[in-house]
Amino acid sequence: MDFFEYRDRELYCEDVPVRELAERFGTPLWVYSARTVLHHYGQVQEAFAEAEPIICYSVKANSNLAILHLMAQHGSGFDVVSGGEIYRVLLAGGDPRRTVFAGVGKSPAEIAYAIDQDLLLLEVESEEEAEVIREIAAEKQKAVSVAIRVNPDVDPKTHRYITTGKKESKFGLDLERAAALADRLRGDRWVQLHGLHMHIGSQITDPSAYGRAAARVADLALDLKKMGHDIRWLNTGGGFGIHYRGQEGRPAEEFAAVILPHVRRCGCRLLLEPGRFIVGNAGILVSRVLFRKEAGDRRFLIQDAAMNDLVRPSLYQAFHRIWPVVVPPGLPAPPTDYESDIPGTVRWDVVGPVCETGDFLALDRPLPRLDRGDLLATFSAGAYGMVMSSNYNSRPRGAEVLVEGSSFRLVRRRETYEDLVRAELEADAIPHPAASS
Ligand code: LLP
Repeated sequence: MDFFEYRDRELYCEDVPVRELAERFGTPLWVYSARTVLHHYGQVQEAFAEAEPIICYSVKANSNLAILHLMAQHGSGFDVVSGGEIYRVLLAGGDPRRTVFAGVGKSPAEIAYAIDQDLLLLEVESEEEAEVIREIAAEKQKAVSVAIRVNPDVDPKTHRYITTGKKESKFGLDLERAAALADRLRGDRWVQLHGLHMHIGSQITDPSAYGRAAARVADLALDLKKMGHDIRWLNTGGGFGIHYRGQEGRPAEEFAAVILPHVRRCGCRLLLEPGRFIVGNAGILVSRVLFRKEAGDRRFLIQDAAMNDLVRPSLYQAFHRIWPVVVPPGLPAPPTDYESDIPGTVRWDVVGPVCETGDFLALDRPLPRLDRGDLLATFSAGAYGMVMSSNYNSRPRGAEVLVEGSSFRLVRRRETYEDLVRAELEADAIPHPAASS
């Protein structure tokens, strides 16, 4: 369920025609629907209500300050993975006491920053990290609450790049090592163990993987409690999958049904870290067709968004629905099923201007007839879209707009050529024009 819909063959975001936004702000343009963000947040709240969890929205999915502010206003906590994300959360008015910090490679400066800001938990991913946290905490004479990130060794059957809870992945500690670290931390004055954390992967559409993982982590929590550890928090991470192609996402209740029994059983408070589930279907990327051309048996639709804007198709062979923003009369409505043939369409490779053959948004994709200048919407681009963009090929990043009902506002202006070189000019990359004269 989202609030992007075609009315009279024209795409609207809530009550705003997407075409008007593209005309006003140019393309490539990211358009976000606040109502869709809140709808999904509400679904997680409802499904897990009995456990009264702290929902820590995963900042990495979409870290625009306006999105963070919206979440903070509605009581969300945050899951961060860097000092930069802590900075964003604070700037957006987020509550550090409802913010948890994961990551396999926290630098000493990031650890110090997190301690200074009194985050709820630092999620420790290695024995050496625990040592460094202790040193910094001792220096500051400030006790730190930590959770151990456990690698429960389950296969969530998602793309291998975003599988994070199998024993060969770099994240967390296996159950034995986690128990051993807990033992070492017993009674520690500076590093106080208050929770266990897991995050088994992303875009997971098989809830049973959570059941298997949570069972193992809850067992460990119970063992540790028996040994006298004060384990208050069970953090089951993020990863709930969404619809990209059809109806492959699962409702939040299905995840809750397999997670909640383990939360009950171990008597901990629940933390959740959904990212994609909240924002994924709340954003689209709008682009404009530049040229069409044919080569052999391929038909290329060259448009102005590229892999530097949305890298997911190039990086993970991810499927994003693409459809014209304005569908001319007589042409088909957007498909809900890509398995069967779609009458009135031909197959295009939807590519961008970047100088790589791997630069595409879709390959061999059925689309209606399109002309130069037509606008395209690439759907489900709210998560891991803009945040993974780059300036490759010296392409300025696109603008971002947040829609709420019939109003909208620019929440990130389009980058300029000056933005591209500012850090270099400030570092004196070339002789200063004034100095050489
Ligand atoms: N918690 C931790 C510790 C994480 O590492 C992640 C995501 C999340 C929560 C949020 O996961 P979500 O609910 O959004 O699935 N760039 C990839 C996804 C990478 C996910 C990284 N970790 C993609 O575009 O599919």
